[in-house]
Amino acid sequence: MERGAATGGGRRWTVPIPSSLIHYFTCLLSPIVYFSNFKVPLFDLAFCYFSNFRSFICLLNGTFLVYIKRKLEGKVALITGGASGIGECSAKLFAEHGAKIVIADIQDQLDHAICEPIGLSNSIYIHCDVANEEDVKNTVDIAVTTFGKLNIMFNNAGILDFYKERIIDNEKTDFERELSVNITCVFVGMKHAARVMVPARAGSIISTASVASNIGGMATHAYTCAKHVVTGLTKNLAVELGQFGIRVNCLSPYQ
Ligand SMILES: NC(=O)c1ccc[n+]([C@@H]2O[C@H](COP(=O)([O-])OP(=O)(O)OC[C@H]3O[C@@H](n4cnc5c(N)ncnc54)[C@H](O)[C@@H]3O)[C@@H](O)[C@H]2O)c1
Repeated sequence: MERGAATGGGRRWTVPIPSSLIHYFTCLLSPIVYFSNFKVPLFDLAFCYFSNFRSFICLLNGTFLVYIKRKLEGKVALITGGASGIGECSAKLFAEHGAKIVIADIQDQLDHAICEPIGLSNSIYIHCDVANEEDVKNTVDIAVTTFGKLNIMFNNAGILDFYKERIIDNEKTDFERELSVNITCVFVGMKHAARVMVPARAGSIISTASVASNIGGMATHAYTCAKHVVTGLTKNLAVELGQFGIRVNCLSPYQ
């Protein structure tokens, strides 16, 4: 077979310039779609469909990816210890995925600095000492009255006590203080999340445990005890709340 026959009598097929331009234009549009909160103007799709089918598929692909990526669209998440560290990063990530965020912390001076990048209409900061049940109860109630519901409770706040290698150097008061924050906060967080999630028959409760929940010698005695309790509480509550469609999990970071 002669080469000319396969290529239309020697003429090389090329994509017309305006069509390529539209293609690149729509490729550029995908990130804009992503950052504009998944609002794809219908005329954009229609324009691409009629002018260039390949661009249309490209835009549709981008749109679809955005849909997959924004996993928390319309959800409301309460994050304790959300003013810094893992909690702060989680708040930003959850917000990127479309969630409304309630940050509960005691670092009140960071209130604006945390909420501004997330969006002041999408997030609120509430002063909440997680070792105080009344504070946690109020925070859950404010989340529900402000955003209408609570889908995700992230019990993340925690403290690490000063490391003393030998048990005989450890004071009972320090031990009890560590437990009172790291265990009590998870218990009351779970309790008040369950209070509003059970009637809704949906929700997800996540708590931050630690590598010290599983491995000895990684942290202080008090911290290790507390983080073991977090996994125990998680297992127990998962059995209780599973019947209501509420998922209960914990995660164990390791630095
Ligand atoms: N960073 C790690 O490597 C690591 C490893 C294992 C587990 N963890 C756990 O992850 C969680 C977050 O740790 P992080 O590293 O982000 O620490 P971090 O100190 O950066 O953040 C903890 C947050 O909790 C807040 N907080 C402390 N006490 C509080 C209280 N009584 N009431 C309300 N908020 C309070 C702090 O203000 C802070 O914003 C903790 O539970 C910690 O034990 C962290």
